[in-house]
Amino acid sequence: MSSSLLPGLERVLITGEQIDERIRQLGAQITSDYQGKTLKLVGVLKGSVFFLTALARYIELPLKVDFLAISSFSNRSGAPGVVRIAKDLDESIEGEDVLLIEDIVDTGFTLRYLLQTLAGRAPNSLSVCTFLDRNSRRIVQVPVHYRCFDIPDRFVVGFGLDYNQLYRNLGYVAVMKPDKSAANH
Ligand code: IMP
Ligand code: MG
Repeated sequence: MSSSLLPGLERVLITGEQIDERIRQLGAQITSDYQGKTLKLVGVLKGSVFFLTALARYIELPLKVDFLAISSFSNRSGAPGVVRIAKDLDESIEGEDVLLIEDIVDTGFTLRYLLQTLAGRAPNSLSVCTFLDRNSRRIVQVPVHYRCFDIPDRFVVGFGLDYNQLYRNLGYVAVMKPDKSAANH
């Protein structure tokens, strides 16, 4: 497999088979947890799209999908945490059972902002499902109800996660070579 790795990638961290197996388990758990309800998956563009569509196929419930996009900025001192909505949801979530789908929770700033914003719109319930969790770098405490994988402190790409908008289409998760990703992480 490493012989077919794209330039810039160091090694495969999570294989496509591991991803599929884990998503299948999570889909079954979500199906059971939300039995009798209609679920709305809210995806954060663009990173979560690949995970959301894979997960949705393993959820056996009446299901709706909506998306929002965010922009995050660092200030001059490099402090993270300034987030705004660049594209809002198409529909109201009032009274709905919402599962927010993230690609990765790192410092937690993005998720905290999203939860505050969505909670203010009076959903019936609001939970979080993330493909990857890098718990070791958490700065603000945020609830994560479902996660596929906890990952070490390395910059990763694939299955929706990008480096300069590239690599999202990989069917696996790979660690970037350090020199490539240092500026972004
Ligand atoms: P947080 O606000 O620090 O939790 O940032 C999470 C966001 O940072 C994610 O939604 C990603 O867009 C980006 N991000 C964090 N770590 C990585 C990574 O390893 N690869 C690609 N994007 C990442
Ligand atoms: Mg993201």
